[in-house]
Amino acid sequence: MTDLSLYQLHFAPLQGYTDRIFRNAFDRCFGGVDAYYTPFIRVEKGTFRNRDLRDIDPQSEQVEHLVPQILPGSAEECRMLIDLIQSEGYKTIDINLGCPFPLIAGKRKGAGMLPYPELVEEVLSPLEAYPEIDFSLKMRLGWENVSECMDLVTILNCLRLTHITIHARIGKQQYKGKTNPEAFRQFYESSRHPLFYNGDLCTIEEIKKILLDFPALRGVAVGRGLLSSPLMAKEFQKNETFSEKECMALYFSFHEELFSAYSERLEGDSHLLMKMKTLWDYFLPETDRKCLKKIKKATTVSLYRQIVKEIFCL
Ligand SMILES: Cc1cc2nc3c(=O)[nH]c(=O)nc-3n(C[C@H](O)[C@H](O)[C@H](O)COP(=O)(O)O)c2cc1C
Repeated sequence: MTDLSLYQLHFAPLQGYTDRIFRNAFDRCFGGVDAYYTPFIRVEKGTFRNRDLRDIDPQSEQVEHLVPQILPGSAEECRMLIDLIQSEGYKTIDINLGCPFPLIAGKRKGAGMLPYPELVEEVLSPLEAYPEIDFSLKMRLGWENVSECMDLVTILNCLRLTHITIHARIGKQQYKGKTNPEAFRQFYESSRHPLFYNGDLCTIEEIKKILLDFPALRGVAVGRGLLSSPLMAKEFQKNETFSEKECMALYFSFHEELFSAYSERLEGDSHLLMKMKTLWDYFLPETDRKCLKKIKKATTVSLYRQIVKEIFCL
């Protein structure tokens, strides 16, 4: 039997979903997560986006262990991003080599950098100059081919990293198609760094199976599985289950906290409505399909509130 307490569970970042408001509400209502990551922060036209800066503002952050994630395309951008994060007082930084969005990957950034080991080495060369920062990496098995991660192993083994999170797909798959634990095994056997497995872990059983197959993992990173089953992390951490009634009460208070925080931050009902609808892309997929359809079609906040009441039987 796998002793789950030996392993960590990280919340994989999801651009558009796991922003500061979401993380804070999630942590208060559900918890069970050892570390959260921000969605990636990048340099755009030589500077930083305001919403990225807002998302790493330490004054507004309430989760205990937040790791800002950066997506550098060059050594210069890498330095700029590290300096920015460091100036906000953070001591841990995650580096994204996994983003498959065509506009990013096409510029040899994110997962698009994986086929070019020399570029990876050059872009990550500034890390040495920041001994006080703990760096980690999030990457895929490759862009086009799973052999690409093996071509990178020697370079990565020479870097000072606390861990590597591997999304066990190639970039060209985006977020679909099968994950490839067997190709991951090769990397697992060659990497000297502690590893986190990531990709399509949606139940505790699936997490247990991965930990059984790869017992030397440091843990797992879960993204969409936590958007749809937010109590999974707590169940993993405490090895306990919640009754249907307890679950629904927690889901509702989470929803209300998000609604209230987003209505304070976003201007106008249409922005609020759009943001809340996004939540339901993944949240509680067992919800009656008709209700989910009505959510997607809701044109006013009051209509939206009415459907939410129906879902939570209030
Ligand atoms: C909409 C969306 C946004 C994402 N944004 C990020 C991101 O900003 N940084 C990152 O490293 N991964 C990002 N990912 C990838 C997830 O962190 C994760 O690696 C992937 O979804 C597979 O894990 P999962 O099946 O547990 O979701 C994103 C994924 C999705 C679907």
